[in-house]
Amino acid sequence: MEIKNIKEELKKNLSPYRYDHSLRVADTAKKLAKHYHIDEPKAYITGLLHDIAKELSEEENQYWIKKYHLNKNLNEEKNRKIKHADIGAVIAKEKYHLDENCCNAIKYHTIGNKDMDTLAKIIYIADKIGREKIPEELKPVEQLAYKNINEALLYCIEQQEKKLKEKGIKTHKDTQELLEKLKRKKNSINRKGN
Ligand SMILES: [Fe+2]
Ligand SMILES: [Fe+2]
Repeated sequence: MEIKNIKEELKKNLSPYRYDHSLRVADTAKKLAKHYHIDEPKAYITGLLHDIAKELSEEENQYWIKKYHLNKNLNEEKNRKIKHADIGAVIAKEKYHLDENCCNAIKYHTIGNKDMDTLAKIIYIADKIGREKIPEELKPVEQLAYKNINEALLYCIEQQEKKLKEKGIKTHKDTQELLEKLKRKKNSINRKGN
């Protein structure tokens, strides 16, 4: 599907706030893709579609969960965030024919995953900084994203974890695995530098 048509569909299906956010994430993802020498149009389209399932009705959610036998736990309210990422990934595949790494980037954009590739890292970060008003604690990411993508991702996740901890919410297993991998990477680079 052409970008123009995807945008028209998104405009019809998303609130103005979410549509604006999707455009910003797409623009940011494209810039980062250029910087890291990966496919820019692919990054743009993945950014556009990353929140495609964020505003679905409960009936629509159930349709996708059943059709693709998605995790039963998605019915729990606490998994609302994971739900829109998992469902978004299957919609991106079925309706928009996005390839596997684009769909995985959508799937991983809320809780992360140790197997994230550069595109997935870009979408995760673009989601955090592709906003009209970037939260104060995430402002450093705007520059860090262009210096070291792994450190930018680590920073975002640590901020997110801090917030969850304050609310008494346990870190998701996938996030924990990613966090450990990124910390190991950072430590080994620091050791080599010394
Ligand atoms: Fe999202
Ligand atoms: Fe988003």
